[in-house]
Amino acid sequence: MSLTYDAIVVGGGVIGCSIAYQLSKKKKKVLLLEKGKVGEKASSAAAGMLGAQMEFEVDDPLYPLAKKSRQMFRDLAHELYEITGIDIQLMKRGIYELAFTEVECERHQQRAERDTRQGEMVSWLSSRQLREQEPSISSKARGALYFPNDGQVSPVQLTTAYLRGATYYGTEVKEQTEVVQLIKTGNKVTGVETDSETFFADHVILAGGVWSSRLLPELQMVPVKGECISFVTNEPLLYGTVKYNGCYLVPKRNNRIFVGATSVPHSFDEKVTFAGIFDLMERAKQMVPGLTEAAFEKAWTGLRPQTQNGKPYIGQHPEHEGLLVATGHYRNGILLSTITGKMITDQIESEVPFYET
Ligand code: FAD
Ligand code: GLY
Repeated sequence: MSLTYDAIVVGGGVIGCSIAYQLSKKKKKVLLLEKGKVGEKASSAAAGMLGAQMEFEVDDPLYPLAKKSRQMFRDLAHELYEITGIDIQLMKRGIYELAFTEVECERHQQRAERDTRQGEMVSWLSSRQLREQEPSISSKARGALYFPNDGQVSPVQLTTAYLRGATYYGTEVKEQTEVVQLIKTGNKVTGVETDSETFFADHVILAGGVWSSRLLPELQMVPVKGECISFVTNEPLLYGTVKYNGCYLVPKRNNRIFVGATSVPHSFDEKVTFAGIFDLMERAKQMVPGLTEAAFEKAWTGLRPQTQNGKPYIGQHPEHEGLLVATGHYRNGILLSTITGKMITDQIESEVPFYET
């Protein structure tokens, strides 16, 4: 016998779990289908930065969404803790984008001035000011662009908390269940076929990360492999997050530091390579030389889901009624998870999106 839901979410990464959480909170009957284990793909590989300003320039169309999403984390953290007891480890300790050359100093100073004029919270720190705030940073750094409102969470705790929150509000979850086909009646998507069963729903939300184009080839998703490593230090080395030349150091609880991340487009390979971690370690040492004393903890990879134009798909499919797509969050799925859950829920509820009011 087939079952009917208000909404079926395909994919149990941070995006699918956030959507399931928001929808079931609004009393929708939700089924979440995950082909492996919830959260085990890109979402558990992330460093967890909420880098709205570090990742997006003010004139990027995603900038307002990213800032709104970052802002939503404070209430979300309380809400999820209340109902699940899980602490998503939200920390607002800022992100520093370092400058080592004259050209970088000029570029960062110009951005600080421009953004400040537009009312954004950002400042340029001289080498002295930077080292007063973060003494472990290399004395060769000539300054930094500082985003005090950017922060971080634990991506694993966040995804787990969304999942538990969703089940608290009634979402049914099936792991080890792959959706192999969307069921269509004319132009309308009415359900999904899994490897073992068929389910029907008023709305199907495709949140399958980089694998989304297996069900909807026109999405043409691009996997961008990222490798990360973590170290443990005896004493805290950093308070905020530090970034330079595509490499970042994110201090976590218990003196752990995440070092990320390589970027290899068009690769479905999930192996950690010698070259990848060697490159990260060289770059990390340039930023914080004291890291060479730290104990190696582990290394891992994940596949960032990128679209052809680099912008995520979030919303109703233009041709298939009943089908919504939420994927392509590329480097920022943790940051954008809050607003994505809300946007999809608003669309299904046919409410005026709150971020446009
Ligand atoms: P995924 O987490 O990949 O989840 C998709 C899920 O769908 C998978 O579990 C998969 O098994 C399932 N699935 C796919 N197809 C099917 C199907 N047919 N049936 C059932 N299930 C299916 N973002 C930030 O905001 N901040 C960061 O600091 C950050 N750091 C990163 C560092 C690295 C190294 C990487 C790789 C990424 C980082 N990201 C970061 C990006 C972020 O991790 C991703 O944008 C986000 O996790 C994407 O979430 P998702 O749910 O779309 O994809
Ligand atoms: N947002 C960091 C990364 O994708 O590596």
